[in-house]
Amino acid sequence: MSKNFYVTTPIYYVNGDPHVGSAYTTIACDVISRYKKTAGYDVYFLTGTDEHGQKVEEKAKEMGKTPQEWTDIMAPRFAELWKALNIENNDFIRTTEDRHKKAVAKIFKKVYDKGDIYKGSYEGKYCVSDETFVPDNQVIGENGCPHCGKELRLVKEESYFFKMSKYREALLKHIEENPNFILPESRRNEVISFIKDELYDLSISRNTFKWGIPLEIDPEHVIYVWFDALTNYLTAVGYENNPEMYDKFWNNAETVHLLGKDILRFHAITWPCMLLAAGERLPEKIVAHGWWTVDGAKMSKSVGNVVNPLDEIAKYGVDAFRYFLLREVHFGNDGDYSEKAMVGRINADLANDLGNLLNRTLGMYKKYFNNIITEGEGHEVFDDEIETLWQETLVNVDKYMNKMQFSYGLETIWKYISRMNKYIDETMPWALAKDEDKKPRLAKVMNNLVEALYKIAVLVYPYMPESAEKIWNQLGFKEVRNGKLEDIKNFKVSIGHTLNEASPIFPRIEVLKEPVKEFKDDLVVENPINISQFDAINIRVVEIKEAFAVEGSDKLLRFIVDTGTEKRQIVSGIAKYYPNFEELKGKKVMAVLNLEPVNLRGVLSQGMLLTTTEKKKVKLVEIDTSVKIGSQIK
Ligand code: MSP
Repeated sequence: MSKNFYVTTPIYYVNGDPHVGSAYTTIACDVISRYKKTAGYDVYFLTGTDEHGQKVEEKAKEMGKTPQEWTDIMAPRFAELWKALNIENNDFIRTTEDRHKKAVAKIFKKVYDKGDIYKGSYEGKYCVSDETFVPDNQVIGENGCPHCGKELRLVKEESYFFKMSKYREALLKHIEENPNFILPESRRNEVISFIKDELYDLSISRNTFKWGIPLEIDPEHVIYVWFDALTNYLTAVGYENNPEMYDKFWNNAETVHLLGKDILRFHAITWPCMLLAAGERLPEKIVAHGWWTVDGAKMSKSVGNVVNPLDEIAKYGVDAFRYFLLREVHFGNDGDYSEKAMVGRINADLANDLGNLLNRTLGMYKKYFNNIITEGEGHEVFDDEIETLWQETLVNVDKYMNKMQFSYGLETIWKYISRMNKYIDETMPWALAKDEDKKPRLAKVMNNLVEALYKIAVLVYPYMPESAEKIWNQLGFKEVRNGKLEDIKNFKVSIGHTLNEASPIFPRIEVLKEPVKEFKDDLVVENPINISQFDAINIRVVEIKEAFAVEGSDKLLRFIVDTGTEKRQIVSGIAKYYPNFEELKGKKVMAVLNLEPVNLRGVLSQGMLLTTTEKKKVKLVEIDTSVKIGSQIK
């Protein structure tokens, strides 16, 4: 297949402002679209607004506007949000545009001429909020919509019907023969059993309101808003006005529709049946995602918990918002939006993992080689491990991206990021830097790190385009958008290239803690001890005289400390948190001196240094330098 890729969001109803749900699909489309570009595809990315129908007509009336005035106010609000979210769509379609009306007329005529449209009358329930007919056996209770719970209306009117039932077998066959046609698999099974149950003909015109595209064959009727809306996917690629483009992006492209699970049936049943009837090619993939709740509750205007993406961007930055939505939830599952989860992701994944890798690498390159890429030499087993993992990373990311498994794509990239952080701990550049003979190996290790960051930036670019660009800039490169998967496979940095200064890309976010509870005289103390039990512990201020790594262990450090009466050797499991452990020399810390001596990894430890743990980082408890060595802690 030619390397053309066409991706679409649903077109959004303009009865309200865009929210986190609408942002989600659009960001996902942007990510896959940017990814495909890095894979060398010619991409066309479409989004837009669904402006006809009873729901929009009624909203406009409520707002004292004509439907056209209202949609003219609302459509730009979507376009503006997409700009703020760095969405790189090629087109923004509005169903009130002329080009679209012509395309709808064309497909209607094709299906009509084929004999697949007939006149009848419809009597049944209709949900205006979902713009959908609800068969009697699906009504909830007296009169509730099975999808949104809102009250259904009784519709009794003349209508044109589309012979959808005629395409039941053909559609089932297509779904069965193409396992990736509907994703994820659980949704695919749901659609199959729905079609197997019964496929009714579909009422595709209404004549009791006016806000829609009139039928050429009977202008008293307007086309049912879903028949109108689904056609947008053809309109935008020139179905009616640009045969060349149509051939490229519909007939010869990998076409992917992304949408929420609530509108999967329209996309996986109505739409393919329309295309089969019109004699057009079916899309490659229809991918349904889950729904977002907020702090565990359904998002709703009346509850007042609707998440406005613009507020979130202002608080956390656009890339963190994009990252969070795609990382937090496996595409297809429902997810919960909360500040706690967002801050957790930013601090752990972005500031700690990726941010630290960049800062540590650039910091050391500056210190050891004054930012100039230097010829390296030497090789250890870790070098092979990171190379093998890199090649696996590329393969796995591609596999996940092609199934729209965005969170797995990120997990795969992060596995590599963590491995590279570990590589620093394993190779210990600070130790290599001590020995002039080891300078070539030091350069080699540092170059591996620079190259890894260059490559990581290209992989995170689809998700976080601004941050990826910043990473490249700090590494002394520009235009990460032009980075191609092909080029990062075996990327090597040129000798003499100059790196830029490091500056944090993802600052940590401090969350205000729960307020400290007021004084209470009936406080219950957990696990109490008495004073003589406490006195039995000999805790004293000691000074660190020497600090060493422990061979064969990436966890332990060995210290020689002065206790005021003698020197002792103490081993502590804090190597991970003190990559520059030599800087601990001269610090005064607290040690328990009457613990029984033990052997840790064959090294004698004659005491224990006291530490605290804050946000998963272990720190020695330092004592003011004015306190005398050997002072007892009481
Ligand atoms: N206009 C139709 C689509 C026509 S496509 C030919 C429509 N519009 S919508 O504005 O109601 O919904 C658009 C998309 O937003 C849907 O994919 C829907 O699943 C998604 N979401 C709306 N609320 C959502 C959440 N709370 N969470 C995730 N996505 C949600 O349907």
